[in-house]
Amino acid sequence: MGDWVASAAPVPLAGDITVPGDKSVSHRAVMLAALADGTSRIEGFLEGADTRATAAIFAAMGVRIESPAPGVRIVHGVGIDGLREPAAPLDCGNAGTGMRLLAGLLAGQRFDSTLVGDASLTRRPMRRVIEPLARMGAAIDSDDGHAPLRIRGGRHLHGIEYASPVASAQVKSAVLLAGLYAQGETVVREPQPTRDYTEAMLQAFGYAVDARPGVAALRGGGRLRAADVVVPADFSSAAFFIVAATLVPGSELVLRGVGLDARRTGLLRVLELMGARFEVAPTRDILVRSATLQGIEVPVDCVADMIDEFPILCVAAACARGRTVIRGAAELRVKESDRIATMAEGLRALGIVVEETPDGLAIEGGRLRGGEIDSRGDHRIAMAFAVAGQVAEGEVRIRDVENVGTSFPGFEELARATGFNLV
Ligand code: S3P
Repeated sequence: MGDWVASAAPVPLAGDITVPGDKSVSHRAVMLAALADGTSRIEGFLEGADTRATAAIFAAMGVRIESPAPGVRIVHGVGIDGLREPAAPLDCGNAGTGMRLLAGLLAGQRFDSTLVGDASLTRRPMRRVIEPLARMGAAIDSDDGHAPLRIRGGRHLHGIEYASPVASAQVKSAVLLAGLYAQGETVVREPQPTRDYTEAMLQAFGYAVDARPGVAALRGGGRLRAADVVVPADFSSAAFFIVAATLVPGSELVLRGVGLDARRTGLLRVLELMGARFEVAPTRDILVRSATLQGIEVPVDCVADMIDEFPILCVAAACARGRTVIRGAAELRVKESDRIATMAEGLRALGIVVEETPDGLAIEGGRLRGGEIDSRGDHRIAMAFAVAGQVAEGEVRIRDVENVGTSFPGFEELARATGFNLV
């Protein structure tokens, strides 16, 4: 298992960078292109372990996918009913998005399939998709709500109206993808609106979806038409650099072509309230300058729009003046690690006073000292503490950083190019 040692950046961070493609968009682009009639071209595809696993899964079901250059995929769609029975279990790796969306999509196939994942993914809750899919007529066996998921084919699905108890784009997407194969209408309502990439991308592939914030509906039995997709840079990856340039004094950093969907950029709203200085250009470039931050109560209505950004927000909060309070974020407990516990433990190791609650944390801003962090194999925890190291008074050693490649291949090199002290 690899480690990093992060130490105070010797110079302000500077540069003009493009982070890799959006993970959520890349997963969906491959899935829909595979099921479409015709050939689709995807540009900006994330070359991360999670999204490559999804592409490999479709290849294992008979979809020809060419990769003529890094970040490019040519997907020869097989049509909505053209997938073939895989010869072996389908390995989603570390990817919750891959497994949950595929559970929906595979529930409507004529053949049986099994979804497996790594140790972290095997710990994550799958009942949240199994339950609504079962209501649609799917048959999915699990290990007490966990992977492996054994999905029986040949079921006749019917549309349902589902009020999801959790604000989860993965749950919504799983139900909608099963809805493609269901008789009648499938409707999903969410407690808070979440990222709408599945709805938007289905529409881009020519499928009629009635989508409004918080509600999405479609009728089964249609077909998808091939489409070309240009994947924007992932805001969740950009977030580490936005906070790093905010915290390291004198920094000035430009991030190019970032996906700025409102359902993803809650962190910008929160950082603005904390006093961050950044400008967003119509070209989707973000210019960040360093600033002194003030602790705040994070508005609960921002939580769903920044669900993947809490590890790095916690680092920003640890460096802010005063107290930052996060509530309404219990979902963090079921991410790649329990991100409330992992961040509390890590920040305490660096001398920060943290109170952990069932659905959040209260963080007293202070001075970070050196220490040792266990990332628990969670990519975003590892990158968040790499940023913390840039402003810490001593060396920050971060354990178990391999999984950074699931979402952000090349993070280390890009970080060093902007001035990070990271080895
Ligand atoms: C994602 C949805 C979110 C997010 C994850 C990607 C997606 O998960 O945390 O990284 O692509 O739909 P939940 O749906 O579990 O909130």
